[in-house]
Amino acid sequence: MRLLELKELRVGYGEVDIVRGIDLHVEENEIVTIAGTNGAGKSTLVKGVMGLAPRTSGQMTFAGQDLLSRSAEDRRSLGISYVPQVANVFPSLSVSENLSIMGRGQNAKSRMDEMFSMFPALGRRKRTQARALSGGERQQLAFARALMSQPKLIVLDEPTAALSPALSTQVFEQVKQLLSMDVAVLMIEQRARQSLKISHRGYILDSGKVAMVGPAEQLLADPEMEELYLGVHE
Ligand SMILES: Nc1ncnc2c1ncn2[C@@H]1O[C@H](COP(=O)(O)OP(=O)(O)OP(=O)(O)O)[C@@H](O)[C@H]1O
Ligand SMILES: [Mg+2]
Repeated sequence: MRLLELKELRVGYGEVDIVRGIDLHVEENEIVTIAGTNGAGKSTLVKGVMGLAPRTSGQMTFAGQDLLSRSAEDRRSLGISYVPQVANVFPSLSVSENLSIMGRGQNAKSRMDEMFSMFPALGRRKRTQARALSGGERQQLAFARALMSQPKLIVLDEPTAALSPALSTQVFEQVKQLLSMDVAVLMIEQRARQSLKISHRGYILDSGKVAMVGPAEQLLADPEMEELYLGVHE
């Protein structure tokens, strides 16, 4: 089933459109990478999807339901979770507190236990303040928070940006694991090559438009892609 579908999406601040007519979709159980140059509009695109941008137009549906007419809160309750690039955990709260405030109803406790078995490092540090976690653990906590609401789609904005190459590899492994929990992934990544390697499809953005799109292995093998978008960051 098609989860997210964007048609001719435009997103902007003030008078200016940053995202200038983008078609994009994510199927159930798919990992999709968004890569591209700095300032291409990647973060703005996902803010538009989450209802966090001042001006968004075009068409946008999730599991067939219109998103544009819905508030940010309603979009999340339809089953989309978002992990922003920064400020994705509360530093002064403990690991447990960071999770419990995301959970609702009777399932929250058992969902937390699932998170601790998926991320054992967090299970060992339940009472630790988030600010005292390592970079890798903090990113795990951000994922776990986003998963508390049992989303169908998780949207990640550069989950490896602040991490060493070794920790980044761990994060990509964890992203792959999300598929076994029935969660689809839309992921912005600067480490485009590594990200495409675990993805089904990819979109390369340039100046607010889709410059290249296709199955991940096709993008990875494309000489133009290699020259323009893969060489620089890795
Ligand atoms: N709140 C804002 N108000 C006005 N302009 C903004 C705002 N946020 C971003 N922009 C502008 O929108 C453009 C795209 O920014 P965006 O953050 O979406 O790019 P990006 O592709 O995510 O880049 P990066 O790879 O650096 O994260 C940039 O020119 C940026 O200056
Ligand atoms: Mg960005």
